[in-house]
Amino acid sequence: MNRPAVKVRNMHTTSMESVQQKESRCLLQNYSRYPLVVESASGCYVFDLDGKRYLDMISGIGVNALGHGHPRIAAALAEQAARCLHTSNLVYHRYQGALAERLCAMSGLDRVFFSNSGGEAMECALKAVRAHGRGLSERKIRLVALESSFHGRSFGALAVTGHPEYRRPFEPLYPEVTFVQPNDEDGLAAAVSEDTAGIILEPVMGEAGVYPLDDGFLRRARELADRHNALLVADEVQCGLGRTGRPFAFQWSGIRPDLVVAAKPLAAGLPLGATLFTEKAALSLPAGAHGTTCGGGPLACRVALEFLAVMEELLPHIREVGGVLREGLESLAGRHRVITGVRSKGLMFGLQLSVPGRPILLRALELGLWLNCTHETVLRMLPPYILTREQAGEAVEILDRALTDLN
Ligand SMILES: Cc1ncc(COP(=O)(O)O)c(C=O)c1O
Repeated sequence: MNRPAVKVRNMHTTSMESVQQKESRCLLQNYSRYPLVVESASGCYVFDLDGKRYLDMISGIGVNALGHGHPRIAAALAEQAARCLHTSNLVYHRYQGALAERLCAMSGLDRVFFSNSGGEAMECALKAVRAHGRGLSERKIRLVALESSFHGRSFGALAVTGHPEYRRPFEPLYPEVTFVQPNDEDGLAAAVSEDTAGIILEPVMGEAGVYPLDDGFLRRARELADRHNALLVADEVQCGLGRTGRPFAFQWSGIRPDLVVAAKPLAAGLPLGATLFTEKAALSLPAGAHGTTCGGGPLACRVALEFLAVMEELLPHIREVGGVLREGLESLAGRHRVITGVRSKGLMFGLQLSVPGRPILLRALELGLWLNCTHETVLRMLPPYILTREQAGEAVEILDRALTDLN
């Protein structure tokens, strides 16, 4: 059989303009990208088409938590890719149970369901909450969530996301949601009733601009959930899995949620979501109640086991370098009046600005620093856990120059 000749294109002749043109013709125009085409990456740096280097302080929004090309991740990935990529959940493979066991040991919860993203993991938690409530009473279907929260883009996750502008085009959504201001204990107490099936919160609110919830608020949420037989859901998609210097952010407060939702860095860059359950919460989703084709496949689970092992070793480093970066950013705030606050937990940072963040971000990008802006006036950093003290200093120095240039 004659095959048509395959034209091999030299990737290095690609320009930013040609990449942009192709995307603008053929892709759904739902993203507003920064002017950077990532061609390769190594450690805490990414490189563009011209070989220019950028310090990566956002890690693909908290996903590349071990940086780029980590040797242990690359080795596990290559080995497993050659052995077996996918099985489906019709049969067993050796890594899914092993990974669930590690996550249970780290979190103190009892069971795990694997999916492919944070949104999906959240969806599973919401189904468990709904089934829990319905199992007790027809009316017990109400949810309590927080203003300014973010839980994903699927219909369920959107319904508990505290941004009316994200929800509005897709309404009517799951209607029985009451939103409460973060850290408002009295507001929470007033919102939770016998009809509440679940309370949903992020222990550190990421998209909102990196707001750690008070330990007292988290404990009150636990107490109210117990009193009204509701399930407490901690969405740790952004703040979990080492980001705050502990395996899970809820662990700083001493509470134990009924459900924990995790994803982003779990498989160090491969898609993998996890919903963790207490034994009680797990009763809500018996055989046949939920499922997925690709979730928990051997490739992602094998890599995730490696990720967790490295992450645990890095926890003291995350706390230490997080402190160094915080000091640097506080000193920056002393020199630049547009920075009105520094919020952080471990290696999760929000720099509150009195001006829009995008021009600063774009200038920093020109100078070789990649960070992100959330809520228009918050510069967010979610650097890789392997960030060194020197690289933390480099980030502060470049940001200093960007702020000075725009002054
Ligand atoms: C707290 C939180 N929950 C859920 C999600 C949704 O995760 P995904 O984008 O993987 O669906 C995100 C994404 O940023 C998140 O930050």
